[in-house]
Amino acid sequence: MRTRRAALAAIAGAASLALTLSACGQSGEGGSKEEAGDAKGGTIGIAMPTKSSERWIADGNNVVKDLESKGYKTKLVYGEDDPDQQVGQIENLITQGVKALIVAAIDNKSMNNVLQQAKDANIPVISYDRLILGTENVDYYASFDNEKVGELQGNYIVEKLGLKDGSKKGPFNIELFAGSNDDNNTRYFFQGAMNVLQPYIDKKQLVVRSKQTALNQVTTLRWDGGTAQKRMDDILTSAYKSERVDAVLSPYDGISIGILSALKSDDYGSKSKPLPIVTGQDAEVASVKSIIADQQSMTVYKDTRELAKVASNMVDALLNGKKPEVNDEKTYDNGSKVVPAYLLEPVSVDKTNYKETVVDSGYIKESDLK
Ligand code: GAL
Repeated sequence: MRTRRAALAAIAGAASLALTLSACGQSGEGGSKEEAGDAKGGTIGIAMPTKSSERWIADGNNVVKDLESKGYKTKLVYGEDDPDQQVGQIENLITQGVKALIVAAIDNKSMNNVLQQAKDANIPVISYDRLILGTENVDYYASFDNEKVGELQGNYIVEKLGLKDGSKKGPFNIELFAGSNDDNNTRYFFQGAMNVLQPYIDKKQLVVRSKQTALNQVTTLRWDGGTAQKRMDDILTSAYKSERVDAVLSPYDGISIGILSALKSDDYGSKSKPLPIVTGQDAEVASVKSIIADQQSMTVYKDTRELAKVASNMVDALLNGKKPEVNDEKTYDNGSKVVPAYLLEPVSVDKTNYKETVVDSGYIKESDLK
């Protein structure tokens, strides 16, 4: 598995080298070097991708909390899914004299110039959740086992269809969705799922009626639910007449909600036309509610509180001249180097275990699911 991942990362990296950089964005904030304070208790810059999804809001808040508990000041910015804006924000953080940067990139290949500026200013960079590609100026990577996320989604589908234990043979109809093509995680999630699903597709026990099976045919720019809804609508119209969809591979809860809307507009979820299995990721409140209501089937829970801790610990170690703790030094080749990583474990969640997982751990309050 590690070899497969390394090979995948190498392909991703090589592709990225051919790409040029996007233009630098506008500076939205003022500030001077002095504002960010001196080394001890200095300011850490945190650049998150968007506030449109609750996970990133929680990620930002958790990183701030962890760093502040270690005595740092913080500056948290959100790029609103606009890569140029995010690059501009990071330039600003550098100008303000931050001591380290934690970056969850919007476009993983747009960071080369701005991270050179960070390097020149001696500012270490942690790639947060999503690997930044095509630059040596990324020091560490904090994330989850991204390929495992896809494997959990793929496994859920083959188990629930009865293909795994051989109790059913199919053929079953499946449609495939992937995340944003500018997010390096997308290929890992998809690859992980396809490792499980492809053998059944090859044996024709799973049939993709739309024939859209290549990653570049199934991506969803900026993980947008509306874009996924439109694609699912189009697939239902063009590839399904009397046939039914039995499963949909969805990489992320926001996309799953879009897919479910398209299905419901086509009468799925009625007595005579049950909803297909629909996967997801992030354990967002709307999706856990949907799981409880027997609509979305599962999600992949990634405890972002733990991820925030990993990233904060990395920063703290680096600023104290220590080596951050890592548990993977070979999987994540960004095209310029293998970035040492600490990877956390994702957990499969459905109606049978959401209480023990997301509720008992305090990730979601039970009252929010009412
Ligand atoms: C990915 C992340 C997922 C999901 C998605 C959309 O990079 O790993 O957990 O949040 O972005 O925001």
